[in-house]
Amino acid sequence: PYPNLTPTPPMGWNNWSYYGCDISEETVLANARALVSSGLAAKGYDTVTTDDCWMTHTRDADGNLVPDPTRFPHGMAYVGEQLHAMGLKFGIYEDAGTATCGGYPGSYSHIKQDADLFAKWKVDYLKLDGCNVPVPTGQSADDIYHKIYGDMSQALLDTGRPIVYSVSAPAYFEGEKDWHHVISWSAEVGNLWREGADVAMESSSARGKWASIKYNYGYNVPLADLQSPGRWNDPDFLLAGQSRLTGDEIRSQMSLWSVMAAPLISSTDLTKASPEALDVLGNKDVIAVDQDAKGLQGRIVQQGDGYDVLSKPLANGDRAVALFNSSDEAHTITTTAAKAGLPAGSSYLLKDLWSKRTTQTTGTIAANVPAHATVLYRVHAGTAHRVQPATAITWTRTG
Ligand code: GLA
Repeated sequence: PYPNLTPTPPMGWNNWSYYGCDISEETVLANARALVSSGLAAKGYDTVTTDDCWMTHTRDADGNLVPDPTRFPHGMAYVGEQLHAMGLKFGIYEDAGTATCGGYPGSYSHIKQDADLFAKWKVDYLKLDGCNVPVPTGQSADDIYHKIYGDMSQALLDTGRPIVYSVSAPAYFEGEKDWHHVISWSAEVGNLWREGADVAMESSSARGKWASIKYNYGYNVPLADLQSPGRWNDPDFLLAGQSRLTGDEIRSQMSLWSVMAAPLISSTDLTKASPEALDVLGNKDVIAVDQDAKGLQGRIVQQGDGYDVLSKPLANGDRAVALFNSSDEAHTITTTAAKAGLPAGSSYLLKDLWSKRTTQTTGTIAANVPAHATVLYRVHAGTAHRVQPATAITWTRTG
């Protein structure tokens, strides 16, 4: 298999869902600076990916991809240098077919050449999309995609540069028979894979955005068996910071994505994002659920009319428990520590990871959850949190 370059789900920023093709060096670097100045980079959001439309419509005389000279006047290696100087990682978009989804040259029949170019540019992360992959009649699309994505995997390996490989193939088999097979080989050739639909774009309506979060959640949540530590299902970008979403809705998406151990990839204008949106993206306790060392996607442990209860096992024995109200009315959602998979006991501590309040219970886990909201608890069996190991003491020799 491709090397495990992502022991925890990748985190970062991508322009697509907010800017679409309206992308430039200035935009990418302004958002990179905002990642750093907001503190999000220090919290793990370290990969900045330029999505589609960064290139010109034709390759050069040598067959190399050419950055759009207006959008990226200093070229892509320069963007990488700037990102690296900020302590960030450099992500780029290409496509496995003859053209990208936006109609720019794809890597089809240029796989090795493009991999080498990306390595030369010091790219750290490749999102390889799956538009315009030619499938000759009578041949299996699954086989064709497998071959091309496998070729890119090998070509990336051959560069000798560790490049996180995001495979979009599963998204091109959405809802088809046997499509899980596409994930099984995606997990062999890459580190993460897109599935389901694209999340809504910034221009979408309020309803459209919420529907899209619910759709991608619903599509991703049954895929827990197809994931393993270091190999991640990717239900697409976090929309916090975009317009027409409520605080409860963006906290729901952040909670659900974290409980599902999804990549946390923000797609918004971080230079203008509200303090609330930055707080949602930057909630350390929620990020810790996503990035937990056990590396497991949480599962639904209870469902009712308009709500789901999810539980994610954590490395220290705690469980993250999400009470997700997907309906348009407030609900009291009630479950138990036993249903959430915690060991039997007489007492549990519930830390609400949004309000930061800790309460004690003998086993009932319940909350009144507003419409579209999620209450996210970190549940610990026992009466006190395990004492954290003290920070290592460094002895300095003096004199
Ligand atoms: C597809 C992908 C999106 C984005 C666009 C770019 O739709 O799923 O994430 O990369 O292509 O054209």
